[in-house]
Amino acid sequence: LSRSRTITCRAAVAWAANSTLSIEEVQVEPPKAGEVRIKVTSTGICGSDDHAIKGLLSAVFPYIPGHEGAGIVESIGKGVSSVKPGDKVLTLIIPQCRECSSCLHPKGNFCEKQDALSSSGLMLDGTSRFTCKGKKIHHSFRTSTFTEYTVVLEIAVAKIDAAAPMDKVSAISCEVPTGYGAAVHSAKVTRGSTCVVYGLGGIGSAIVMGCKASGAARIIGVDINEEKFPRARALGVTDCLNPRKLKKPVQQVVMEMTGVGVDFAFEAIGLPDVMLAAWDSCHLSHGVCLIVGVAPSNSKLSLDASKIFSGRTLKGVCLGDYKTRDCIPQLVTDYLQNKINIDPLVTHQLPFDQLHKAFELYHAGKTIRCILLF
Ligand code: APR
Ligand code: ZN
Repeated sequence: LSRSRTITCRAAVAWAANSTLSIEEVQVEPPKAGEVRIKVTSTGICGSDDHAIKGLLSAVFPYIPGHEGAGIVESIGKGVSSVKPGDKVLTLIIPQCRECSSCLHPKGNFCEKQDALSSSGLMLDGTSRFTCKGKKIHHSFRTSTFTEYTVVLEIAVAKIDAAAPMDKVSAISCEVPTGYGAAVHSAKVTRGSTCVVYGLGGIGSAIVMGCKASGAARIIGVDINEEKFPRARALGVTDCLNPRKLKKPVQQVVMEMTGVGVDFAFEAIGLPDVMLAAWDSCHLSHGVCLIVGVAPSNSKLSLDASKIFSGRTLKGVCLGDYKTRDCIPQLVTDYLQNKINIDPLVTHQLPFDQLHKAFELYHAGKTIRCILLF
């Protein structure tokens, strides 16, 4: 149990905003009470990791990035009862403490013990489990998965099926619930409906999959990178729009294409202007706009206040509104039982030491999800 010692291993450290990640030797302390140390087996590179490394979100530097992780429990701290060494697990950017006002409410999932809004970069006791060259290294969103070993709160760990393929299921840590869940579980996209998805990266692709699975009749996909279109069509997008090639604002084109606006609009990029476009693409009466993307810290959205009363819904959503520990393991089981197919969402896999190549591919717009393997 707590006899475990500090582990020295490789990890990627973001020393300062907008600097190149550097692979370093780091020390990972044993888990304290209520914490779990995990041997990470795979981690995805999510859009919000990139935003955070650039200093756009509230990360505390220096820190170890990454949140979309899968791994095996190495050791557990005092009082941990839901997992044991050897268990396969996913890391959760939104924990489920089952005690706070969010967890006790039947709706929503934004546990008060998350560290995604105004991050501290620290564990609940206000300290970090990582050091490098004698310096304190912070956690990212209390997850940090760009490392061979990490320490995470027990409430931010989902135990998954022992048969799960560990080189792929990291996508179910964030990408799948965030995207697929936003459509299927949060918006509850209806059969025969019209949807628009802004951003056809990893999250947008998973949203498209959820819209399709829900029986949407028309799915409009919007991206400035036309290389994303063929794959998006294969997942169910019926119409592709590149806003940079349009003569009118994209929301106006969506309005004209549909006559009345869409039933469901999703923003999966994290840009306030695109959030506005998504809102203005919605049917005035019953349209629902879901904001999935994470916008830069302190950015603002300016809506036409005179038009809000007509009935549209603007809703934020993270991890598909799933109570994470309760629901995310089931997505893994659904994958194993061929009820959902996450394979098209994972386009690249590279060894961890090729992290820089993975980021190059991501920045060049070549990847839907690149998973780093340890
Ligand atoms: N208009 C349309 N598409 C855009 C625009 C724009 N102005 N800017 C970027 N895009 C496209 C990119 O070309 C890319 O295909 O948005 C997509 C973003 O996808 P990824 O970079 O793969 O990011 P992803 O992991 O999908 O995350 C998207 O969701 O969870 C949040 O924080 C995350 O805010 C991020 C968002
Ligand atoms: Zn909670």
